[in-house]
Amino acid sequence: MRLVLVGPPGAGKGTQAEFIAAHLAVPKISTGDIFRANVSQGTPLGVEAKRYMDAGQLVPDEVTINMVRDRLAEPDASDGFLLDGFPRTVPQASALDKLLADLGTALDIVMELVVDDDEVIRRLSGRRTCRGCGKIWHVEFDPTSKDNICDRCGSELFQRDDDKAETIANRLVEYADKTAPLVDFYGAQGKLVGIDATGPVEDVTVRAIDALRSYGG
Ligand code: AP5
Repeated sequence: MRLVLVGPPGAGKGTQAEFIAAHLAVPKISTGDIFRANVSQGTPLGVEAKRYMDAGQLVPDEVTINMVRDRLAEPDASDGFLLDGFPRTVPQASALDKLLADLGTALDIVMELVVDDDEVIRRLSGRRTCRGCGKIWHVEFDPTSKDNICDRCGSELFQRDDDKAETIANRLVEYADKTAPLVDFYGAQGKLVGIDATGPVEDVTVRAIDALRSYGG
């Protein structure tokens, strides 16, 4: 299955992507994770992306599309994938459609995680991520048993640079301006499924997987 997860920053895309990708047995491809890995390795791509990420802005389409094209060409993505955080603009969505059409395939479903801005701010301001295994935690909604130590691998947790209040506000503006139009774009293709992403993580996962089953996933 070829699936896209869309939703505002902090909607829970990364959290749900892990469960959904495991359920579908497809790779999870997160453009945010790929950019962050490049930033921490200091690659030219990372240096360029960091300027935009720190300001809460989107990385230019051309850079992002080329990066995704390369990633989708890897063998593990040939039978299906879950894209988390891409596409995020109408030009990215059009480029993805064309890329898949050239490969003789297409997206099956675009799942929108629906939450309001107040919940997004609560989720992002308390998010912590493991430096070792990348697991996402929350100080209030999904705390570790020891402060700042990952329960899964024992590594230290960190707070993302772009989870500061001012950057979160910019990310929400970017979402409303550039990403929200994808709801209409994919709605017109008949591929959009909206999921209520409020309430406990496990309840959201059940809703997502139930929706996928009706598409054969
Ligand atoms: P990216 O990493 O994609 O960030 P994002 O879309 O802003 O999404 P987040 O990762 O912040 O949130 P999420 O929805 O994954 O939520 P999570 O599961 O962590 O992108 C970062 C930057 O990279 C962008 O700003 C941009 O600069 C650049 N970029 C990336 N892709 C790009 C693209 N295609 N084009 C251009 N630029 C791009 O959950 C959040 C918190 O809530 C966690 O603490 C979690 O534990 C908690 N939580 C999750 N679910 C629940 C629940 N049900 N109840 C309570 N708490 C919950």
